[in-house]
Amino acid sequence: MTHSHLCPDTLWVPLLCLLLLCVPAVHTAKCPQQCVCDQIQLTVTCINRNLTQVPPNADEITVKLDLRGNDIKELPTGAFKHTPYLTHLSLQRCNIRTVKEGAFRGLGRLVFLNLANNNIEILYQESFDGLSSLKQLMIDRNRVEEIQPGAFSQLGFLNLLSLTHNQLVYIPNMAFQGLQNIKWMRLSHNSLNYLDTEAFAGLVTLTRLSLDHNELQFFPTETMTRLPGVTRLDLSYNPMTYLGEEAVSMAKLAQLFLDHMSLQDMANTAILNSPSLTHLDISFNQLRVLQPFSEGSPKLARLNMAGNPIYCNCYLRPLREWAIRGKVKLMGTCGGPDNFSGENLEAVYPPELRCQSQEAMLKAEFEEAIRITPPPTEAPENKVKCPANCVCEAETHHSSCENRSHTKVPRGFSPNTRLLDLRGNHFHYIPSNSFPGVAQVVSLHLQRCKIVDVESGAFSGMKGLIYLYLSENDLTSISPDAFKGLPQLTYLHLEKNRFTSFPKGAFKLVPSLLALHLENNAVTKLESGILTGAEGLRALYLTGNAIDHISPRALDQASDLDTLHLGGNKLEEVPTEALSKSGNLRDLRLSGNSIRWVGPNTFRPLERSLKELYLDNMGLEKMSQNSLTGLGPGLRSLFLEGNQLEEVPDLHPLTSLEVINLAGNPLMCDCPLLPLRLWIEKVNLKVRATCSNPPELRGRRVKDVHAFKACPGGESLPSLPTVTLKPAKTPKTTKPKANAPHWPQARQEAQSQTQTSQDSEHQTSSSQENQERGLNPQPSTFAWLLFLFF
Ligand SMILES: *[C@@H]1O[C@H](CO)[C@@H](O)[C@H](O)[C@H]1NC(C)=O
Ligand SMILES: *[C@@H]1O[C@H](CO)[C@@H](O)[C@H](O)[C@H]1NC(C)=O
Ligand SMILES: *[C@@H]1O[C@H](CO)[C@@H](O)[C@H](O)[C@H]1NC(C)=O
Repeated sequence: MTHSHLCPDTLWVPLLCLLLLCVPAVHTAKCPQQCVCDQIQLTVTCINRNLTQVPPNADEITVKLDLRGNDIKELPTGAFKHTPYLTHLSLQRCNIRTVKEGAFRGLGRLVFLNLANNNIEILYQESFDGLSSLKQLMIDRNRVEEIQPGAFSQLGFLNLLSLTHNQLVYIPNMAFQGLQNIKWMRLSHNSLNYLDTEAFAGLVTLTRLSLDHNELQFFPTETMTRLPGVTRLDLSYNPMTYLGEEAVSMAKLAQLFLDHMSLQDMANTAILNSPSLTHLDISFNQLRVLQPFSEGSPKLARLNMAGNPIYCNCYLRPLREWAIRGKVKLMGTCGGPDNFSGENLEAVYPPELRCQSQEAMLKAEFEEAIRITPPPTEAPENKVKCPANCVCEAETHHSSCENRSHTKVPRGFSPNTRLLDLRGNHFHYIPSNSFPGVAQVVSLHLQRCKIVDVESGAFSGMKGLIYLYLSENDLTSISPDAFKGLPQLTYLHLEKNRFTSFPKGAFKLVPSLLALHLENNAVTKLESGILTGAEGLRALYLTGNAIDHISPRALDQASDLDTLHLGGNKLEEVPTEALSKSGNLRDLRLSGNSIRWVGPNTFRPLERSLKELYLDNMGLEKMSQNSLTGLGPGLRSLFLEGNQLEEVPDLHPLTSLEVINLAGNPLMCDCPLLPLRLWIEKVNLKVRATCSNPPELRGRRVKDVHAFKACPGGESLPSLPTVTLKPAKTPKTTKPKANAPHWPQARQEAQSQTQTSQDSEHQTSSSQENQERGLNPQPSTFAWLLFLFF
């Protein structure tokens, strides 16, 4: 600090003094009014002063600034730029809601920053920019619910990050990227129910992680395995019920706290892969017995089992013997039988741990169970069972908890529930067995629930489920066993997620699957074998992905496929080979790909089945004369609008065509187009074909051009008086109208479950047609559903 730094401030003093009407200051001139300054320690203290902004006139050389208990609602960019030498900054209880990006820019010497007890909700990407020396960051007791990627990326020296008592529900991948020197991270007292696999990736220096008092229902094995340096892990007070095989795989872990949870059982290999573990605390759980840890497990020094209802009988004997052999300090007392109750575990010797007769034991356990479980409260006759913060209707059997910010799937619905609507909650993760006791649900709505993972067996027991909606979530993949136990699942909606590859293998357990919706994901390829297990699939919706390759064998398994929507992808050719086994396909949509050319015999494999073909808006420049060969009398709709075609192949074989659209193509109205002109004459269809060339015919409808009569073969065309037509406007690309009846809205919704609502743009098929295609559930089921829902 040189004197020159002080000069400018000295010059400002008289002016400031003037501005402040020269209130006689007690402190030296460089101390902000309302604050106490220590010129020797270089500290400025302004506690509980109701300041609404960071005092701009603190002395530049200040190293400690204490602003606790003020009313600074927002920290703007560069809020501390005039005090660049700060090492300590205290901002607790300041009603801070927003920390703007770069708020601390310029504080390259700051070591300690405390933001506890404010109202911060989001940690923005650049909130902590510039704090390149920071060692401790406290953001406890705020309302943080979101950490944006890169929020901590500039904090390469941070040792301690404390985020306790916030509202975090979920930690996304790479949330803490950049913390290259972090030692201890405190995330206690949040609502965390899911940690993404790479949530803590890259934190190689982390030794201590506190996750107690959260909502984790399972041990996050994969996530924790990525923390090679952690020696102490605290997961107390989370609602875990079971610790599975090899659940804890952490190389350096020495102390593990799993107390005050709901553990009822633990696999004996649970800690097998944590060779450094010495202290394990499983106190205050629901454990009645514990097997000794398996051969090869770490050598524990201490096992705390206090506060569990340990039953001291013959089943406990192996554990007791193991503890004696391995000199493990065993803490806790017996919960039963009566004459052992309250006895220290270490005071009970193996030979005393005996079992009574089988019958006496069962009786004892039964009595114990009755004592623990409160008697079920009888619901009054006229009131339907319903979890808190949900609405349940007895008459319709609908239960809804839409948009209620549930973080766990609520339990306790009536067993008669048929429609369960859980849209718009914050589950993030669906653990196994999330829907016990609702075997009659037909339709389950889980849209917009921020789901990133569905554990295997998540829907077990939902024997009646037909419709499952997982749309608008954040799924990137799905466990092969996710849909285990859904024998009737017929319509599966996975659209608007983040799948980058086809969720292969997930369908082998859903024998009844007819329609699979995967629109608007990011799938790039369809590889062979993707439909293994989905042999009965009739409709596959893949509109709006990024598919640029379809393996020739990709669709082989689904030989009953009836509807295939591939619009809005990145295909450069019609996947003829992949369709070679799809001889039942009626509806093929390729709109909006980049297919420039359609070659000969492209649709041959579909010659007997294809009814609707969408080749519009693809930049199609040429169709070979034989490109439609084989389609003949079967084809009913052909969409070719919005392409670059100058000519079209002969359409005469398409004798059953009901809809055709050639609008928006630069047709060349010359003799090669004569077959089209002749065809138009013959059929009674709105063709929407307009000439683009030669220039004198631009804008004319092909039907109105009589020049064709002069072409060889055009003699038969009628000779109408030549009308001088004004060039007509190019007709707009006309959307064929959906001819769905104007049902009451609710019924239409039911109908859309049999059609694709995503592709409604081109709906031409009536519900009747759909029924014909076998896309409806059994007619009786369908009628019953209508009755049920509405
Ligand atoms: C701060 O505001 C509160 C409430 O208005 C008041 O009671 C208190 O005296 C103020 N404190 C100072 C130091 O001005
Ligand atoms: C506890 O009671 C059982 C059966 O009543 C008896 O066999 C056993 O010896 C008793 N143990 C102790 C330590 O009193
Ligand atoms: C739930 O939230 C969505 C999206 O914010 C909204 O469109 C919908 O109307 C809400 N539903 C209810 C019943 O509040």
